[in-house]
Amino acid sequence: MSDPTTNVTGTPPPSGTPTAVTGTPAAAAKPAPAAAKAAAPAKGKTARRSLLLAIVATPFALAWTTFVAAMGLMTLGTLRFLFPNVLNEPPSKIKVGFPDNYEEGKVTDRFKDANTWVVRNNGIIYALSTTCTHLGCTPNWLEREQKFKCPCHGSGFYITGINFEGPAPRPLERWAVSIGDDGQIVVDKSKKFQYERGDWSNPESFIKV
Ligand code: FES
Repeated sequence: MSDPTTNVTGTPPPSGTPTAVTGTPAAAAKPAPAAAKAAAPAKGKTARRSLLLAIVATPFALAWTTFVAAMGLMTLGTLRFLFPNVLNEPPSKIKVGFPDNYEEGKVTDRFKDANTWVVRNNGIIYALSTTCTHLGCTPNWLEREQKFKCPCHGSGFYITGINFEGPAPRPLERWAVSIGDDGQIVVDKSKKFQYERGDWSNPESFIKV
């Protein structure tokens, strides 16, 4: 048997020469037809796999994006809850003018939007909360009848704020009042005074005039 590393003349090829019988360097660079045929189905397989991946991955990606967006919104909502925008809150202190602007025996409706009636009665000025002590509706001051009347369930309150008819279980509340540096009455709604607790004798709950 002949040595495969020898040529037809029986001498070994010089070093660096390809050992294939038919091969030249140029021929070796060309892809074999069989290899090209094998590559074609492989390409098809890869394309099918990519399509399958796309079909599976697209709903997954959509679900993931939706989940991430929902989590982001929840986080924003939590942050908003933790840091409420206090700038939108109405001020707790309001100036309501000078004591001389108020007439004895009269209720001033001008600050009703600020949840306050200013009343001058029996030589004192006080500020009543406009929140009914039954279920929180806003009563109306009826000048002719000299009473506050709640439109929701009919509770009635005297000019002092004390309840006398209907389901309201207790008198209206009073806010703190004081005279500011400029001589105007300042109503402070961060402090409230309740009759049933004996708060109305507290000098912060009225101004003597
Ligand atoms: S809320 Fe005023 S009487 Fe019910």
